[in-house]
Amino acid sequence: MTVETTVPEDRKSQLLALREIWPHVHALIDEERALGCDADENRDDFGASQQGGRGESYVAAQQARPEARIAGIRGLMNLVVGSTAVDRPVVLDLLGGDGLLHRVCLGLDMPDTTIVTCDASAFMVARAWAAGIPAVLQRAQRQVFHSGSVDGVLLAYGSHHVPEPERQAVADEAWRVLRPGGRFVIHDFAEGSPMAVWFQEVVDKESDTGHRYAHFTADWMRECLARSGFRSVTTNLMFDPIMVTGTSEHEAQAALGQYLLQMYGLHKLVRAHGEQGAARAAFELAREIFRWEPSTSFDDMGDHVSDCVVERMGPSKWQCILPRFALVAVGEKQ
Ligand SMILES: C[S@@+](CC[C@H](N)C(=O)[O-])C[C@H]1O[C@@H](n2cnc3c(N)ncnc32)[C@H](O)[C@@H]1O
Repeated sequence: MTVETTVPEDRKSQLLALREIWPHVHALIDEERALGCDADENRDDFGASQQGGRGESYVAAQQARPEARIAGIRGLMNLVVGSTAVDRPVVLDLLGGDGLLHRVCLGLDMPDTTIVTCDASAFMVARAWAAGIPAVLQRAQRQVFHSGSVDGVLLAYGSHHVPEPERQAVADEAWRVLRPGGRFVIHDFAEGSPMAVWFQEVVDKESDTGHRYAHFTADWMRECLARSGFRSVTTNLMFDPIMVTGTSEHEAQAALGQYLLQMYGLHKLVRAHGEQGAARAAFELAREIFRWEPSTSFDDMGDHVSDCVVERMGPSKWQCILPRFALVAVGEKQ
């Protein structure tokens, strides 16, 4: 559904708009909690650049290439709603940003599922509303939904941003807001993985925000979920590539470089090399870092590509695939 009225910018008008346009989502919200909740005002890496964030360039990357991460998003949605028998399931996307998952899922074959974009950044929530996607301002550690109200909860694409001492609170809150039978899925790029190396060696050095966060491990995910009460917890690796296309092999590589520059706000690379040179440098760095050895501690890497490759899709269509494998834990509330 597209919101055509004026964009609601503050929390109160966002709740009013939600009540009007998405009443079945609004009914799940505890308004008192919602009006009392705080935006992430201490440090907001995903806020506006004027406030020291990289929000604009992150959003630009998602809006330019919303399909780039569709494979992983589809996999996550299968895990969180699975074969649920619930009519019109509601899933909270706790690190929802500007609503990418909501937007991508509109194109997947899951017409009755409502993905609710939640985020601690007032900037991101406003950008979601501006793009016609209803969003809720909340920190994952203190959610504004009623207990036992939702069918699925997803913590993905940024779980390492939750401060370590507060990660248990996120799992506890997921347990609280889920109805019995609902699932909580945690997704992160594991400590020591090429993605964690990318953050440490490239994003931390070449972005203005820096990036020093401890990534999850499989044990950490399992313990968090078990302590909150989730049973039969599973952890797996999931293929979660970035895939972009271009009209030639070179264009497809340049498109990947450009996507990485924007998504990770690699402004220092741009200042040093100019836009085109920086895109090339970002692509080369990624090609170097994202090499998977078949002997990882997980044996379920399937037959996916393990290096950055460019494949020909048609006479003038090439696809560049950056292989990423994410760690994913799933717990069900009994
Ligand atoms: C990497 S972005 C992911 C956005 C979107 N899901 C995507 O894949 O493009 C991570 C998002 O998590 C949000 N975030 C970080 N810590 C959070 C927290 N504790 N609670 C809620 N949102 C948080 C940030 O504001 C940011 O928008």
